[in-house]
Amino acid sequence: MNFRPATLDDCALLAELNHQLIRDEGHRNRMTVPELKERMESWLAAEYSAVLFEDQGQVIACAVYRLQPTEIYLRQLFVVSHRRRQGIGRQVMEMLRSRIWPKNRRLTVEVLVQNTAAVAFWRAVGYQDYSLKLEILPAPLPPPTPAE
Ligand SMILES: CC(C)(COP(=O)(O)OP(=O)(O)OC[C@H]1O[C@@H](n2cnc3c(N)ncnc32)[C@H](O)[C@@H]1OP(=O)(O)O)[C@@H](O)C(=O)NCCC(=O)NCCS
Repeated sequence: MNFRPATLDDCALLAELNHQLIRDEGHRNRMTVPELKERMESWLAAEYSAVLFEDQGQVIACAVYRLQPTEIYLRQLFVVSHRRRQGIGRQVMEMLRSRIWPKNRRLTVEVLVQNTAAVAFWRAVGYQDYSLKLEILPAPLPPPTPAE
């Protein structure tokens, strides 16, 4: 597996992968691919970096992260669906940690509790439970009363 840093020219592809990731993790985000592309462009132009992982010329995984002075926040990790459970995610994490990221930072990630595959994955590659976000959703608005 090879890797290369993503550039602004890769944002259409990253947006497609982001869209699949949102679906696979069961996220509420309803952004469209064009909206995700625009968001990715603004991320890469500012504080985020992305890396594409390729096997025989095909992109099989990507990582999007924010490098901070003391922390690396891994915002997205995605392995294409037909290549999962083959050790690629583990290998990606190994490459990020040994060849791409500085070694002296705290590593963080957020995961939806319902995304049990990812929770198991993060624990398997060394992340430890740290915080739990809780919520109460607003009640749906009542239907409008008919005009007199
Ligand atoms: C999460 C994800 C990146 C894992 O990638 P992967 O290449 O399938 O993971 P690996 O094959 O390297 O798995 C490494 C270990 O993680 C654990 N693991 C991975 N997927 C798992 C699953 N579906 N159920 C239980 N454990 C799992 C296992 O311990 C596995 O080791 P094993 O196969 O020897 O048992 C991939 O499933 C994915 O892209 N999911 C959709 C996007 C997503 O949810 N990303 C994370 C957002 S927070």
